[in-house]
Amino acid sequence: MLKNKKILLGVCGSIAAYKTASLTRLLKKEGAEVKIIMTPDALNFITPLTLSTLSKNPVLVNYFKKNTGEWNNHVELGLWADLMLVAPVSANTLSKFAIGLCDNLLSAIYLSARCPVFLAPAMDMDMLQHPSTQKNLKTLTEFGNTIIKPGFGELASGLNGEGRMAEPEEIIQFLKDIVYINTPLSGKKALVTAGPTYEAIDPVRFIGNHSSGKMGFAIANELAVLGASVTLITGPVSLSIVNSSINRIDVTSAEEMFEAVSKSFDESSIIIMSAAVADYKIDNPSSIKIKKSELNFDLHLTKTIDILTTLGKQKTKDQILVGFALETNNEEENAIEKLKSKNLDFIVLNSLNDKGAGFKSDNNKITIIDKQLNKNVFDLKSKNLVAADICRKIVELIK
Ligand code: CTP
Repeated sequence: MLKNKKILLGVCGSIAAYKTASLTRLLKKEGAEVKIIMTPDALNFITPLTLSTLSKNPVLVNYFKKNTGEWNNHVELGLWADLMLVAPVSANTLSKFAIGLCDNLLSAIYLSARCPVFLAPAMDMDMLQHPSTQKNLKTLTEFGNTIIKPGFGELASGLNGEGRMAEPEEIIQFLKDIVYINTPLSGKKALVTAGPTYEAIDPVRFIGNHSSGKMGFAIANELAVLGASVTLITGPVSLSIVNSSINRIDVTSAEEMFEAVSKSFDESSIIIMSAAVADYKIDNPSSIKIKKSELNFDLHLTKTIDILTTLGKQKTKDQILVGFALETNNEEENAIEKLKSKNLDFIVLNSLNDKGAGFKSDNNKITIIDKQLNKNVFDLKSKNLVAADICRKIVELIK
């Protein structure tokens, strides 16, 4: 669950910093990518060499790289991370975070980070119970940060009480539980198709359609955000994938799309066919450019394979199969007919009659109709939000 997660690990000056070594090792074992930032005080407790060796990344302490004229860009680091964990976080750093004081690299990154932040305090019990520390913890919780509660036991001060940093294994479990809640599709494989297909007439001409691929790309991205490992098979589009974990496969014709889909179908538990696949192809595309010698010119077309209908026949009970229906008239009736004939779990209906929605637009207006014929009509919204609605339905079905 922490696999490929980009984690910024902050380390403050506390005797518990020795535990950061095994915490780093466990994070790496989970498959996370770890970048460590130490406060200058933390250097008194553990060496950057130990942590850079374990994290396999240079450890950062200062804004400026010595005698190079270069600096460590805190904004870039803050944006890089999927989550930020400060373990141990000292009373001093907690108070800086609470008031926005920014006097070292770690506090600057904290202010720049847009990702969820987790704080694992470690300090003497009286410091922890002091009203100012308690107030800071409350403030940070109100900011949306999550406190990983310290444990009870013998403290470095010789006192017995609350203040020991949570054990590395507990912190890992805590993060995994949280990540699981936020990524309900972790461990699932998803297959998404997007864009148009082009059917060749000759080497320079084709039959295509206006699909931009935006809807399918937004769905692929949302599935990846929810933790699925996504293969996106796309016809010719001018879009880039946002999430680098998505496996993108480019195809041109319906036949190529079918071949690519067939290769990934069996291993996928979520399949969403949002591509606008051509229904007809040219019988015998010319291998050379056709000249305009004739006054009239006929094209003979034959049906392409209906990919979704084929998948519907092969689908097992553990697979969720979703199709799209783009209609101009008798919208619901046609969509229900496709839902049944293609053996889908649900169908996403778009109507070309809805103003502001459609092929090239950034917005869409959909109705989801499921197998039990439950109907959910959504407002016009951005394709990213539409993708979130579609994926919410997937998560519901999986649960
Ligand atoms: N589809 C497919 N293979 C095709 C045609 C369509 O997999 N050759 C899929 C689309 O990706 C979509 C669904 O089938 O998820 C419905 O596509 P649509 O074009 O609306 O319907 P068709 O079945 O092609 O019927 P018609 O064009 O007659 O409305």
